[in-house]
Amino acid sequence: MNTKKFIIANWKAYITAQKQAKDMLATVVKAKLSKGAEVVVCPPFPFLSLFPKTKSSIFSLGAQDVFWESEGAYTGAVTLAMLRDFGVSHVIIGHSERRHFAMESDEVVNRKVRAALQAGLRVILCVGEKEREDSRAIPEIVGAQVKSALADVPAPHMKNLFIAYEPIWAIGTGVADTPNDALSASLYIRKVVGDLYGNKIGMALKVLYGGSVDAKNAALFMNQSGINGVLVGKASTDKKEFLGILDSF
Ligand code: 13P
Repeated sequence: MNTKKFIIANWKAYITAQKQAKDMLATVVKAKLSKGAEVVVCPPFPFLSLFPKTKSSIFSLGAQDVFWESEGAYTGAVTLAMLRDFGVSHVIIGHSERRHFAMESDEVVNRKVRAALQAGLRVILCVGEKEREDSRAIPEIVGAQVKSALADVPAPHMKNLFIAYEPIWAIGTGVADTPNDALSASLYIRKVVGDLYGNKIGMALKVLYGGSVDAKNAALFMNQSGINGVLVGKASTDKKEFLGILDSF
């Protein structure tokens, strides 16, 4: 199992001005990280150019979405080549907010996952159920999301995949999942991937937890050996909270 821990900051549209983005970025790059940690910051597209292009082994740049076609008459699209040109190495795909407000279907998510992995980007695929009390949720809903997103993804590309378990009821609510339940979900996701690609790939898969992660609870998730890190929304845009998260393991 991968022992490195990943802290992925999804700024969503919380940061809306260049000055704010520069300020937050300066805080993140100055932060001291413990060994074995990697931070990926995913700002809104217009702020990608504010990030230094120099490669760093502990700090990477991510995007919050991408289009699957490589170029052409696609008004409003941001392509993989554009992202790479800005030094982007990671991309979030299938976030529940995009599935909901941009009406992204499982088929769209699969197209984006295949195109991004084919282009050599690291993909953070988001999955998660809507209601907490639905006991069939993890096997039925999350299992189906994982399988459809990975349709026709070749095994060699799996090393660049993260799957973020983000229960929708925990996103932005201040009510995070319990570390135990997040661990069970992460083990289930590994099993689904193991059934598709073999045990070795299932065990090597990088699984993240996301949903109301903050400075107080981040360590509880990150310290689980079956969870490789956290995907943080709102708290990643608050200096004190985010530094607290970086400091918490
Ligand atoms: P919050 O941390 O704001 O709950 O958001 C989680 C999330 O959706 C990260 O992608």
